[in-house]
Amino acid sequence: MNTIYADHAATTYPRAQEVIDAMTAYMKEIGCSPGRGGYRRSLDAARLVYEARMLLAELFHVPQPEQVVFTPSVTYSLNLVLKGLLAEGDQVLISSMEHNAVVRPLTRLAAERGIQVVQLPCRPDGSLEPGQVKRALRANTRLVVLTHASNVTGTLLPVYEVGEILRGTDVFYCIDAAQTAGVEKVDFTDLHCDYLAFTGHKSLLGPPGIGGLCLSARAAEITKPLVEGGTGSRSEDEYQPPFLPDKFESGTQNVPGVAGLAAGVRLLQATGLKQVKAKKTALTAAFLAGLEKIPGITVYGTKDAGTSAGVVSLNMEGLDNGTLSLILEQAYGIMTRSGLHCAPLAHKTIGTFPEGTLRFSFGLTNTEEDIDAILAALQEVAKERN
Ligand code: ALA
Repeated sequence: MNTIYADHAATTYPRAQEVIDAMTAYMKEIGCSPGRGGYRRSLDAARLVYEARMLLAELFHVPQPEQVVFTPSVTYSLNLVLKGLLAEGDQVLISSMEHNAVVRPLTRLAAERGIQVVQLPCRPDGSLEPGQVKRALRANTRLVVLTHASNVTGTLLPVYEVGEILRGTDVFYCIDAAQTAGVEKVDFTDLHCDYLAFTGHKSLLGPPGIGGLCLSARAAEITKPLVEGGTGSRSEDEYQPPFLPDKFESGTQNVPGVAGLAAGVRLLQATGLKQVKAKKTALTAAFLAGLEKIPGITVYGTKDAGTSAGVVSLNMEGLDNGTLSLILEQAYGIMTRSGLHCAPLAHKTIGTFPEGTLRFSFGLTNTEEDIDAILAALQEVAKERN
């Protein structure tokens, strides 16, 4: 049976040969750690990491490469922001479409540090009216955190409009670009944000275990590191170095991960971000149009493929979404993700809590034939139910 992977919002698959080759080349031909020796292999590793930093700075339009810090994941990056910035009495504004990577650390901080968390209600399709941010600002508002696109519905949030609202204020602004980096316009400078958290293993086409955080100068100065330790710099000092990127990069780096991520970004640049976006939009539009013809299907979130990050959530009447996901894989070889997608708050917003939805998410490796095959499978399952 042929298989179709439709879970790109979880991770990209299959990995491009270029990414695998870059990781293998590092392991075979360099193999050593950056900043930990004066020998050639260590210098080669340092060069590899620096070039990757430059690539990402260019991709996200970050003024200096040092403002891009590598972390193990977007979850780590978001924890770094929340735990490194917020203090007793601070208020944080979040959207009601946020992932548990934001909600869970904030729940702990609310209990332990007395942080006030205000959820800005999104519309049932997951969209946010930007004026809500302006109206919710208070004297103690320290931070606004928004996902660029929901991992449940794909709905894009008005992150640029909110950036304009917050521009010039002393409120810090954090964007979770887990679902958009590598497909939507993610421009650190135009966003006027202080933190841009990203992951390498989704639309940036890299491997798991590598992500990052871009920080503004004021954020870099004020944010405390989540982890401290060896950086290969200022080893005589018992305090963590205060400068970027070392302040936030302790311990031996995941250089194979960085190598794979850099190869993914190069591949995206060779393909062209506009083409990537156009392809995802065309696949999503075709899928949404086909779903309209299948009885008993409810689609959640935006129905406009142009305002979606290539994610479609649905339920089929009379069939639990977990069972539907299983049927699709076992009978048709189609891989999807069912349930709550680590984002119960988003499901409450769109009215699908606690049962969740079945999520389809498309990537560069999907084709129009994949969409036709998925629609035909859903059509068949729906027919058998009636
Ligand atoms: N947050 C990822 C997802 O949506 C893992 O599947």
